[in-house]
Amino acid sequence: MAEIRINCVTKKFGEVKAVDNFCATVGDGEFVSILGPSGCGKTTMLRMVAGFEKPTAGEIYIGDRLVSSPDKGIYVPPEKRSIGMVFQSYAVWPHMTVFENVGYPLKIKGLAKSEIAVRTNKALDLVHLGGLAQRLPSQLSGGQQQRVALARALVAEPDLLLLDEPLSNLDAKLRESMRFEIKELQKKLGVTVLYVTHDQAEAMAMSDRIVVMNAGVIHQIGDPVQVYETPANKVIADFIGLVNFLDAEAGEGGVKIPALGRTVHAPAGLGGKAVAAVRPENIALAAPGAGLTGTVIHKSYLGDTVDWRIELGGEQIRVIAPASAFQEYSAGDSIGLSVDKVMIFPA
Ligand SMILES: Nc1ncnc2c1ncn2[C@@H]1O[C@H](COP(=O)(O)OP(=O)(O)OP(=O)(O)O)[C@@H](O)[C@H]1O
Ligand SMILES: [Mg+2]
Repeated sequence: MAEIRINCVTKKFGEVKAVDNFCATVGDGEFVSILGPSGCGKTTMLRMVAGFEKPTAGEIYIGDRLVSSPDKGIYVPPEKRSIGMVFQSYAVWPHMTVFENVGYPLKIKGLAKSEIAVRTNKALDLVHLGGLAQRLPSQLSGGQQQRVALARALVAEPDLLLLDEPLSNLDAKLRESMRFEIKELQKKLGVTVLYVTHDQAEAMAMSDRIVVMNAGVIHQIGDPVQVYETPANKVIADFIGLVNFLDAEAGEGGVKIPALGRTVHAPAGLGGKAVAAVRPENIALAAPGAGLTGTVIHKSYLGDTVDWRIELGGEQIRVIAPASAFQEYSAGDSIGLSVDKVMIFPA
């Protein structure tokens, strides 16, 4: 069993609380991502699960085993936690070839040379490094070194994989194919994955559940649909996907959104200042006339879509629409808009 239970873990570096009361679980065979902006404590949390950092407070279990508990004086070192890890800095050994780097965990386990060769080559093929086995890390690009680290984490087929931004240095195409490969591999091996990223698309594409963090604190835990469709607050709405914020005012009859000329039902517990949030894909363009009318400020052609900036009731909104639509409209033109789903948050 490679379930992870993190019970109210806090990590302080001097006065800095890098992680504040983190409570979450990763089920056996589950893929969970920790998502949040730079400096929010993701790496620190992952390093505590691996055993490279000791919590200031709280407990961490891997399976039934308590591996970290400052209160009980328990601390199991990383090499006794049977994990595979990819570090944010790759940490490949400079004096070893690609093949030796990747095969190292198997060598430590005392496997026969022939077995090591088979499994190492398989792991190298998986990350498309088959042809570079005899190179030294200094002869590789950043993205290639990152893939060496990934192959090394996978080669021993551990029960638990901890991955810290393992795809951050790959080009867009390779990153997308590696997302798919990692996910497929995880399903095939049934391995439990705790994955750290600041890339929301990556987290959404791979995860069963996402833990969204900001400034050391968990803001929401949910599946990709939950965190995108029903973000817990405006910070999460802003961080995950694109969003237009519009001024709003909560009153007796509901929440008034002047730019949309609309009043919507107020969520429970909302009082005073509010903010409305609309995803760009929930706004449709139309010929001016019916519905709302805005003024085109700017449009950026992105190939498959056009990214529009439109002035609407004194505020600026962003709309992503198919490139084929409304080609004849440009800056200064009036354009029609219809807005579908609106989210409301305390301001
Ligand atoms: N060894 C350390 N000593 C002091 N402060 C640290 C140490 N390691 C991390 N911090 C601080 O803890 C906070 C969280 O850092 P962490 O590396 O966990 O962030 P992160 O979410 O992984 O960011 P990034 O996306 O940039 O990698 C930061 O404010 C960082 O400066
Ligand atoms: Mg980090």
